[in-house]
Amino acid sequence: MSVHVLFVCLGNICRSPTAHGLFQNKVDQSGLSEHIIVDSAGTGGWHAGSAPDERAQSTARERGYDISHLKARQVVQGDFEKFDFILAMDRDNLQHLLSLKPKDYKGSIGLFLDIANIDKNQEVPDPYYGGQAQFDTAIKLIEDASEGLLKKIRQQYEL
Ligand code: 4NP
Repeated sequence: MSVHVLFVCLGNICRSPTAHGLFQNKVDQSGLSEHIIVDSAGTGGWHAGSAPDERAQSTARERGYDISHLKARQVVQGDFEKFDFILAMDRDNLQHLLSLKPKDYKGSIGLFLDIANIDKNQEVPDPYYGGQAQFDTAIKLIEDASEGLLKKIRQQYEL
């Protein structure tokens, strides 16, 4: 049995690769990497093939996470067949995902902070046009939500 988790933001170079790297780290530390499969994507395709933004990489590195190996890609229709959780960083991303979602999609789709039981209807704000403070805010939310999501999945799937 494996659970597939996809993190989604706009560009897949700041928030969702940070979530991908941090959540993967927590999954690995828990010895669950065979059971929980992690990926990330952007609703936009402009940065496809690129490594995470340097500011996202350095913010993660300062906290002990290496996300330099990740490569951006755009969400594809097949993601709705593969992923049990599709987690949007903000409401725009969520609206975009809902517009692509097939009617018979059976998984959980929603805001990352909401599904992780951190904060109902709240967003991880886009740090791209901000400074270090915005990247710090984003990674703190993502760290908390990664813990919350892992707890939820472990309970739900008895892992
Ligand atoms: P992300 O941040 O959605 O967290 O990866 C952004 C990255 C790129 C752009 C906007 C947000 N952009 O406009 O290119």
